[in-house]
Amino acid sequence: MPRVDLFTPVHKGLRAALCDTLGRVGSTGFGDPAQVRLAVRSVRTLLGLLDEHGLLEERFLVPVLSRLDAALGAELSAGHRRLETLQHTLALRLVEVEDAAGEARAEAGRRLGQDLCELGAESLRHMLTEEREANALLHAHLEDADLRALERGMLQALPPRRLAGWMGWILPALGAGERASALAALREALPGEALADVTEAARQALGSARWQATRLAAGL
Ligand SMILES: [Fe+2]
Repeated sequence: MPRVDLFTPVHKGLRAALCDTLGRVGSTGFGDPAQVRLAVRSVRTLLGLLDEHGLLEERFLVPVLSRLDAALGAELSAGHRRLETLQHTLALRLVEVEDAAGEARAEAGRRLGQDLCELGAESLRHMLTEEREANALLHAHLEDADLRALERGMLQALPPRRLAGWMGWILPALGAGERASALAALREALPGEALADVTEAARQALGSARWQATRLAAGL
């Protein structure tokens, strides 16, 4: 029986959003206002996810990890601070892209692509450290029931509209078994009526056949 994994499924969703945004920004012609609007929206969505992700990990997971291994806790916190700085740089670059015109906008767009790559590289490395080292530490010291309680806390800390955005990225990014487990955990954390709203974007992305299969496998 696989252990509860508080990092990898969420990170798969984040990686999907990151790759989508990298593709979108890379293919944007910065002379076309409509394309620029789509690219800016994509980067803002990604930044919203990354900001929330860092805050949730700092609030719910880093304190537990720091008690078990102070050095790893400090390393992960330092990683979150580096990511915050890169996220802030990217947010400023977005404003530059929006405010500029002509050649200056093309140049700001080129820099936006580079800043996004830098953030992506740092984020990928950081997430892998969590998936390998933080998971190993949690699995060595905590029971699955304790990990589920932490997971519920994080799910319930997000407003439903934000959680829906997350699920729109996470659920389609998972394999079938992981997706069913994630849906079952979501069901446990949320009252019945909220679940439909929170899974709406995921249902759209998955299509009805995969969604029905996921529901059945999750016992819903
Ligand atoms: Fe993290």
